[in-house]
Amino acid sequence: MNTDRLVIRDLTKTFGTVTAVNQINMSIPQGKLYSFLGPSGCGKTTTLRMIAGLETPSSGQIIVDGRVLSDSKEVVLPEKRNMGMVFQSYAVWPHMSVWDNVAYGLKLKKMERSRIEKKVAEMLELVGLYHLRERFPTQLSGGQQQRVALARALANEPSILLLDEPLSNLDAKLRETMRFEIRSLQQRLGITAVYVTHSQDEALAVSDVIVIMRDGVILQAGSPEEVYSHPNSSFVAGFIGLANSFPARVVGAEGDAYVVELENGLQIRAAKHGKQWKTGEEVVLVIRPENISFDDWRNPGVVPNELKVKVERVSFTGSIVDYFLRIPRLSESLRCQTTPPTRFAEGQEATCYFAPEVCILTKE
Ligand SMILES: Nc1ncnc2c1ncn2[C@@H]1O[C@H](COP(=O)(O)OP(=O)(O)O)[C@@H](O)[C@H]1O
Ligand SMILES: [Mg+2]
Repeated sequence: MNTDRLVIRDLTKTFGTVTAVNQINMSIPQGKLYSFLGPSGCGKTTTLRMIAGLETPSSGQIIVDGRVLSDSKEVVLPEKRNMGMVFQSYAVWPHMSVWDNVAYGLKLKKMERSRIEKKVAEMLELVGLYHLRERFPTQLSGGQQQRVALARALANEPSILLLDEPLSNLDAKLRETMRFEIRSLQQRLGITAVYVTHSQDEALAVSDVIVIMRDGVILQAGSPEEVYSHPNSSFVAGFIGLANSFPARVVGAEGDAYVVELENGLQIRAAKHGKQWKTGEEVVLVIRPENISFDDWRNPGVVPNELKVKVERVSFTGSIVDYFLRIPRLSESLRCQTTPPTRFAEGQEATCYFAPEVCILTKE
C-alpha cells in the first residue's frame, strides 16, 4: 500500500535563465516531517511555493494523496489544497485579535459557530496562547505571533503543513525552544510537514528526514543521523555539522578498511562502510571533530591513525573545548572537540587518534 502523502516527481522550475529547481524527486509519507535544507538561493522556497500552489512548475508534478495538484499545464488553487502555511514573516493580521486570526479560516469555510469556538480554543491551548486570545498582534512578541500563525495554520486541519524558515526572525534562545515545540506539535497531531530552513541545527532537531539541496538539486536525503554520519559528499559533510575534510587518494585496502594517503604522504585507515573505492581514486576524507581523541605525547604508530600533533589554538566554549591541531606538513589544521576541562595549552605537543570507523570517505 502506498502511504505517501506527498510525491514530487521530476519537478523543475525556471525563471528566465535561472533554474531554481532542477528535476527533483521526493516522496513524503503521511505523518512525517521532511526538512529542505540548503544555502540561500538553492531553491527551497520555490519548491515549497510549488507545493502550496503559489507557483506553476515548468515541468514535473506535485501529487497529494494520489491526485496530481500541479503540473506544467494545471495548478489547483492554493485555497483548494487544504495546506497550512507558516512563513518567516509572521503574516498574522494586525487588525484582528489572536482569537479572530485563528478563527478566520474557519469562518471562511462557514463552519458552525459552536464548532469554531471549540476549535479555536483547542488550537490556542495547543500553542499556549489561550490566555492572550483578546490581544492584538502588536501586543505580542515575535515568538507569540509565530504561535498565532501556527495555530491558524493548524486550525484548518491541513493535509500538509508547510513552514518556510518559520523561526528565522526570532532570537537564538526562542528559536531553540520553538523548534522543539513545533516538532512536538507535529508529532502529537501526526501531521505531514515540509519544513524549509537554512539552519542545520534546526533541521537536525526537527526532522524525520533532511533533504539537502544545492543549486536546485537534491544532494542527499536521509535521517539526521544518516546524513550526519554518512554524508555522500564533502558539501553535505560540511553543511551538516562541523567536519574536517582532507583531499586524499585511495592507495589500498586492508581488511575492513581502505588505506588513503593525504597530501603530506600520511596514511590513514578508513572503514569501508560498504562503499567501493578503486585504488588510485581521489576522495575526500571526512572526520568529525568530536570523533578525535587526544592525549599526552607518546610515541605513536602502535595503532592505526595515531599521529603526532601540536596544539595550535584552544578555545573554551562552555560545554566543549575546541582545539585546532597542527599535523606536520599538512596545510589544514585538524579541529577536535572534547568535553571540559581544558587539558592542553597552545604550543603543547600531543598524540591524537581517530578510529577507522569514524573516518568517512566521500566525494568532493
Ligand atoms: N520570482 C522569481 N523570479 C526570478 N528568480 C527567482 C524568483 N524566485 C526565485 N528566484 C531565483 O531562484 C533561485 C532559488 O530561489 P529560492 O527558491 O527563493 O531559494 P531559497 O529559498 O533556497 O533561498 C534563486 O536564484 C532566486 O534568485
Ligand atoms: Mg527561501
